Amino acid sequence: MFDQEFVAIVGPSGCGKSTILNMIGGLVAPSAGAIELDGRPVAGTPPGVGYVFQKDTVFPWRTVARNIGLGLEYRGVAEAERERRVREAVRLAGLEGFEEAFPATLSGGMRQRVALLRTLVVDPEILLMDEPFGALDTHTKIGLHAELLNLWEARHQTVVFVTHDLSEAITLADRIVVMTRRPGRVKLVHAVGLPRPRDVIKLRESEAYGREYGQLWHVLGEEFA
Ligand SMILES: Nc1ncnc2c1ncn2[C@@H]1O[C@H](COP(=O)(O)OP(=O)(O)OP(=O)(O)O)[C@@H](O)[C@H]1O
Ligand SMILES: [Mg+2]
Repeated sequence: MFDQEFVAIVGPSGCGKSTILNMIGGLVAPSAGAIELDGRPVAGTPPGVGYVFQKDTVFPWRTVARNIGLGLEYRGVAEAERERRVREAVRLAGLEGFEEAFPATLSGGMRQRVALLRTLVVDPEILLMDEPFGALDTHTKIGLHAELLNLWEARHQTVVFVTHDLSEAITLADRIVVMTRRPGRVKLVHAVGLPRPRDVIKLRESEAYGREYGQLWHVLGEEFA
């Protein structure tokens, strides 16, 4: 994968997608082979890596603002700077007015935005995302795709995005890695030929999108057969 590239990984359940993210993030050591980052083997969590987990992992006992500020607290960012960055993140997440709310009072989509912004607020160069929107309804999901693309257009992080949802992969990614069923191997690396910036709604009505979907669905479908 290249610097500043948005890569999606799709493949059947259990093929090893989360395992790959965990290895890139230094949470799991490979049993064979090596994971290299900028030419150096990964040992421990590399600095500059942000991880958005599959389950919404906000802390129920912390308010929205204190959830988003968590990573900044860990990094010892001074309070004034922390407050400034949290305020900006709350605005980006469209959560103004909910700063002091606890997660239990939010919708699933709002909680997922808190988890996303908590990771983005520390400004990671590499963003690992494991089915971050998997549990959301289509509308909320598409809204978050638009937000994520906006944020990515501004910052161009290197993103590895795991998903079961082919539409999501095509909407977001520069390249899509299709894996076989377990034991997982890389089956296909597909460059998405859709221009940016992308309009998440209009995109889905385009012929080009339909073609991408058809090709990939065929390849992925073989793994479910
Ligand atoms: N290539 C592999 N060789 C050996 N074991 C593997 C391999 N890939 C995955 N596993 C094991 O299979 C199990 C499932 O892997 P993982 O959680 O990465 O799957 P996944 O693709 O993320 O599935 P899901 O889509 O359900 O989240 C884990 O216990 C993992 O250790
Ligand atoms: Mg997984």
